[in-house]
Amino acid sequence: MKISIIGAGNVGSLSAMRIASDGLGDVFLIDVVKGLAHGKALDLEDARPLLKYNYNINGSDDIGNVKDSDIIVITAGLARKPGMSREELLVKNAQILKSICLGIKELAKKAIVVVVTNPLDIMTYYALKITGFKPSKVFGMGISLDTARFVNLIAQELNLPVTDIEAMVIGAHGENMLPLPGFSKVKGVSLDEFISDDKVKLLVNRTISRGAEIVANLGTGSAYFAPSAAIACIVKTMVKDEKRTIGLCSYLSGQYGIKDACIGVPCRLGKNGIEQVIELDISQEEKAKLEKSAMLVASATAQLIA
Ligand code: NAI
Ligand code: 2OP
Repeated sequence: MKISIIGAGNVGSLSAMRIASDGLGDVFLIDVVKGLAHGKALDLEDARPLLKYNYNINGSDDIGNVKDSDIIVITAGLARKPGMSREELLVKNAQILKSICLGIKELAKKAIVVVVTNPLDIMTYYALKITGFKPSKVFGMGISLDTARFVNLIAQELNLPVTDIEAMVIGAHGENMLPLPGFSKVKGVSLDEFISDDKVKLLVNRTISRGAEIVANLGTGSAYFAPSAAIACIVKTMVKDEKRTIGLCSYLSGQYGIKDACIGVPCRLGKNGIEQVIELDISQEEKAKLEKSAMLVASATAQLIA
């Protein structure tokens, strides 16, 4: 199994570390900056005797090394700076993504592509259009991270282990995301049995602004520990063909009443990519919000393609 990670910055290199040391496959790290990916791969390789595990990791500045990859994770691009929205990254990251996706289209026709670069939903849709691959094979990581953040905040509020909490976030990976308290449970019991509505609203808002909260504290760059864990989780689900349901930015062709847009929804994931988009019984209000953010994604992508 060849797993390529494009972009050897914070998210890419930490993902490479997690994927290699979890033994999920041979990892190829690629970055446009000369020496960066190679240097990081050498450093990661030196950890093998300490970890007592012979994982295989390589690095290069040559996109040609995506050749024949089974899975490609795209983390190349600029990260948010304090006060900067994900959407402001749009034009610059679209140029980067286009050149990468053209390389993938030529050299790794059978690959499953996991987009991470922001603005996530637009970049995912753009990657789908540029590669021309099947929608089941091109999707984005965003709302599984947002879901993890929601779970973490609920667990902290209730002083319970994270494993006792189940939560759900759908929609865009951005200010329009939709944490769904109605689908969130504590050991199977509704969240509203434990937390007041006002407190739930606070947790929802904190989840939505968690990425920005981290950016504001870091001063430079954006989150990478939890994002790389979310990426490793997606890769593991495919490599081990677990068929787990994970929130992914997926192409919709009528599900949730949305056609021809990419947006975050729960998906069953296996070795061939997305096997099924799961349709939740959300309220009319939630549906309207989801449709609205899908429209915004579709129109922003249409402008890029025009
Ligand atoms: P970073 O700045 O640490 O790394 C980005 C890397 O991409 C740099 O090393 C840069 O040289 C490389 N790069 C730029 N153009 C390239 C090209 N054409 N080919 C190969 N490599 C290229 O940024 P970080 O923190 O790793 O974030 C990467 C991206 O992921 C950003 O767009 C960020 O907003 C996004 N992100 C998305 C998340 C999500 O949940 N979807 C979570 C965290 C970050
Ligand atoms: C985050 O949510 C930057 O999208 C990234 O932390």
